[in-house]
Amino acid sequence: MSHTILIVDDEVKLLDVLGGMLEQLGYRTLAATNGNEALEILARDAVDLVLCDLRMPVMGGKDLLAEMNRRGHAVPLVIMTAYSSVRDAVGMIKDGAFDYIDKPIELDDLAATLSNALRLQDALRDNQRLREELEGRYSFDTLIGASPAFQRVLKGIAEVCEAKTTVLLTGESGTGKEVVARSIHFNSPRKSGPFVAVNCAAVPEALLESEFFGHVKGSFTGALTNRVGRFGQADKGTLFLDEIGDMPLALQAKILRVLQDRTYEPVGSTHSRTTDVRIIAATNRDLESMVAQGEFRGDLYYRLNVFPIALPPLRDRREDIPRFLDRFLAEFGVALGKRGARFTPDAVRALSAYGWPGNIRELQNCVERSVLSARGPVIDVADLPPYLSHPAPRDGGGEDADFPIDLDQDLERYERGRIVAALNRTQGVQVRAAALLGISERSLWHRVKKLGISVTRTVGTPE
Ligand SMILES: Nc1ncnc2c1ncn2[C@@H]1O[C@H](COP(=O)(O)OP(=O)(O)OP(=O)(O)O)[C@@H](O)[C@H]1O
Ligand SMILES: [Mg+2]
Repeated sequence: MSHTILIVDDEVKLLDVLGGMLEQLGYRTLAATNGNEALEILARDAVDLVLCDLRMPVMGGKDLLAEMNRRGHAVPLVIMTAYSSVRDAVGMIKDGAFDYIDKPIELDDLAATLSNALRLQDALRDNQRLREELEGRYSFDTLIGASPAFQRVLKGIAEVCEAKTTVLLTGESGTGKEVVARSIHFNSPRKSGPFVAVNCAAVPEALLESEFFGHVKGSFTGALTNRVGRFGQADKGTLFLDEIGDMPLALQAKILRVLQDRTYEPVGSTHSRTTDVRIIAATNRDLESMVAQGEFRGDLYYRLNVFPIALPPLRDRREDIPRFLDRFLAEFGVALGKRGARFTPDAVRALSAYGWPGNIRELQNCVERSVLSARGPVIDVADLPPYLSHPAPRDGGGEDADFPIDLDQDLERYERGRIVAALNRTQGVQVRAAALLGISERSLWHRVKKLGISVTRTVGTPE
């Protein structure tokens, strides 16, 4: 799409010449002979850049820039100036002008400056569009849950999102801790700042400090450039510390310090940095009992547990299941090219009765698999995974346990469930998954092979 440039100059002849030059470069142009006219055009036309003379008899470049700022026109402005008034032009850059070019104007100069400004403008617009899309995706209305258990969560989110208060999200795997963290961010005054998520269980221990605090070039082998850590990246935004219960004790002490005074030092640097971040932490572990056993620092726990929100397991909010089914059916129906897919009432009953140890994520996967494997648009009980209609006996069933059972199959199901959960938690990092399971890496590797589990390492932050 060609860009539109508004040229503002009191010399009509120059307007003509410039207009011709820019059209040759492939731009659409508009013209104004002073700042007032320019403002009128900006109010009614979509302009991508303003190319403006510094001195004009009616409203000069400086006043035009001030007025554009005041009216919130987010359009880059490039000033044309004679050598004698470069100082004024530089002053305008401080007030937000993009750049200046010298008069008399050289075509190459002009072309390069404009293309830089427009590239930046396009990037900013893309960024804003993506942001709006994200804000929409994480607005409160997109969070599913009319059940009393989830209404309590929503109430908590609404109470806390405006402030900078630290939030601790707890809940089993797949209960929605990350979506809730994102919706707090995107409904907070920091929503235009970054949301940075770190999975504390997935970072290799040797790199933890540099991951969080960054490092300076040359501070250790492999530190080839300076790196901004997560605390620095999240400045003016929100830092989501996921799986905080898996953070090694040594690092906990360092994190505590940042939470206390918002300062830290990059690895290899003696200069403290400050950061303005809102912290949201999440875990599916019982931090309180970890504190009691000396596995988690008590002082850090109290710093994090300022505003706790406990996400209920899906089995405690079964009345929300039909809504989740509708949402996921619609999503996968489109994604998998099977629009109009639906469950029979019997299937909905089976899905609502199941225990969902993997919570919403498990339900989501189950809907995806069912949509894929069903032959037609109607999905019945027979198309659901078999374990839904023959639920596994609960732990500690004692004398009431349903017999007969297939012990080997039950054990295998349990083993697989725990291994998959550990691998998910560590995003496929096997050393850490093995540590979580209390077995050696070698033993984990054998079991993964035996059970035919596919391990994929996720790079970067999870969705
Ligand atoms: N209230 C909700 N409304 C709509 N979708 C939800 C809701 N809660 C969770 N989900 C969906 O369920 C899936 C799991 O959520 P999420 O990743 O936030 O869980 P989690 O608690 O962080 O899990 P884990 O502990 O495994 O990391 C995601 O796809 C998310 O979009
Ligand atoms: Mg998560």
